[in-house]
Amino acid sequence: MSDDDDIILAVAMLQRGGVVAFPTETVYGLGADALNTAAVERVFSIKGRPAQHPLIVHIADASQLSEWARDIPAMAYTLATRFWPGPLTLILKRAARVPDNVTGGQDTIGLRVPNHLVALSLLKKFGGGIAAPSANRFGRISPTTQGHVRAEFGNSVDMILDGGPCQVGVESTIVSLVGERPVILRPGGISRVALAGALGVSVEFNSAADNSPRAPGMLERHYAPRTPLRIVPTGRLFNEVSAMITFGQRVGILELAREPSKLPFLERGVFRYSMPVTPVEYAQSLYATLRQADDAQLDYLLVEQMPDSEEWLTVNDRLRRAANAHSE
Ligand code: TXA
Ligand code: MG
Repeated sequence: MSDDDDIILAVAMLQRGGVVAFPTETVYGLGADALNTAAVERVFSIKGRPAQHPLIVHIADASQLSEWARDIPAMAYTLATRFWPGPLTLILKRAARVPDNVTGGQDTIGLRVPNHLVALSLLKKFGGGIAAPSANRFGRISPTTQGHVRAEFGNSVDMILDGGPCQVGVESTIVSLVGERPVILRPGGISRVALAGALGVSVEFNSAADNSPRAPGMLERHYAPRTPLRIVPTGRLFNEVSAMITFGQRVGILELAREPSKLPFLERGVFRYSMPVTPVEYAQSLYATLRQADDAQLDYLLVEQMPDSEEWLTVNDRLRRAANAHSE
């Protein structure tokens, strides 16, 4: 775990225009001083991210909102008070001083206060906003450990702070507050029910934005492991795996850790990844498990289909996108 000395070093790096990867409760971020255009540019180039895709600016607390946004609606403060620090990103109209490259030239900005001691300590000592996308190459799985970031970027970043494995494990919920009504642009660690409860109004998902370049997290082919992945209903897993083994393929299965197993008779040579049975814990370990599966160099990964219910929505969203990446 990074200590105070590391944080002091990281702050100095940021002040000099460096790029620092840091832990949050969702996934690791690849951070730069949000007001330093050249530093932000480096984040885009290290990540291989197209310029029109905006970054989230991380701040230390809600009192900094007005430094980055304008015309802030009361709902923003309601959500900030209820969920920050936490896995929620608010899309608001941007303040005039925000550099164009942070927001991909848009008139809006994504803001979030992460709930992680290392991130908060970094943000407080730095004082400014840290623009940070997830610390992975564009389109790939977000990192949930320091080791993942190192494997992804090695020495091309100036520093990687360590905060242990991320507790939430999937990216923040993104809520736009710039329209008539609050809209969820990306499901994440905070549920629609929780948002609606806090606001006292209904909150919808923005289904129309599925392929909007404004929110690459919404691209159908995002969050992808290298291994081709398919979602299979529980009842069909056995037959599908058996058929693949017959053709000599190296197959992995992501299945719920049930006792007794629903697949007791599988031959050896099948890579089985046992997943937690609750959605929160499943999400926590999902990306690390997908990376493990990639490392095992499988021909195929079959993922047991999860229930089509609201509590599984974020997990299903990420699994669907991972599967779609290989559907063409
Ligand atoms: O949990 C998270 O949100 C992590 C941690 C590091 O905070 N960050 C993250 O960043 O997932 P990134 O860049 O991988 O995804 C941010 C998403 C993108 O889909 C981006 O397009 C969207 O937020 N976004 C950022 N600013 C936006 C804006 N002004 N309007 C619409 N979408 C925006
Ligand atoms: Mg990302």
